[in-house]
Amino acid sequence: MAGLTVGFGEYTHAIVRGVPASLPKDALRMNEANDDVDLARARREHELYVGVLMHKLGLQIVELPVDDSLPDSVFVEDAALVCGDTALITRPGALGRRKETEMVKKALTDLHLNIVEMTDESATLDGGDVLFTGREFFVGLSKRTNQRGAEILADAFKDYAVSTVPIYDALHLKSFCSMAGPGLLVIGSSDGAQKALKVFERLKDHMLIPVPLTQMAKVDGSLSCCSILVNKRHEM
Ligand code: GLY
Repeated sequence: MAGLTVGFGEYTHAIVRGVPASLPKDALRMNEANDDVDLARARREHELYVGVLMHKLGLQIVELPVDDSLPDSVFVEDAALVCGDTALITRPGALGRRKETEMVKKALTDLHLNIVEMTDESATLDGGDVLFTGREFFVGLSKRTNQRGAEILADAFKDYAVSTVPIYDALHLKSFCSMAGPGLLVIGSSDGAQKALKVFERLKDHMLIPVPLTQMAKVDGSLSCCSILVNKRHEM
């Protein structure tokens, strides 16, 4: 197995996008009964989230323009996968989300990353299904991400092994797990998470900065969905 990649978990920039007015009514959601999203509260919580990225984590924020015609566009993570100086622009599994990649691609191009595009029409991949541990990738095979998408990711990041994880009862792999630091995975307690856990290592204690995301959770959003983290330190 390869060693931990240099600079893993260190970032200089976060790409974010504000909450569109169309989110409460039109954002996709697994549970259609979640029809009570409070837009003002969602926006306040998103501002708090961006504030943590900027002031607590010291990241430079790249804020994309809000687009009311793209109700899920606050979830920028699904549109690209950044590792080192390469950005894979995804082909999101939901047809209505494909246009979200345009503005994300522009921002990543402006940050001088090497852009790889997923053009194969049989492939789908949402960034929310991709977990990078610093040594390897895990790709969730979900309603949004298929085997071909995982293969194209493996091709774009040839230095790393890629394993797939079947996703049950959740939108994305990172709906229930995320890296909390080098060699430290955090994972939820739901049945779907526990099934996936069989693929992962044991957990250790970790520090948390609480950030509420109560409204976006109703449309299947989680913390990592709302940013793309980039490390440009080697150029500074
Ligand atoms: N609402 C997030 C998604 O369905 O993609």
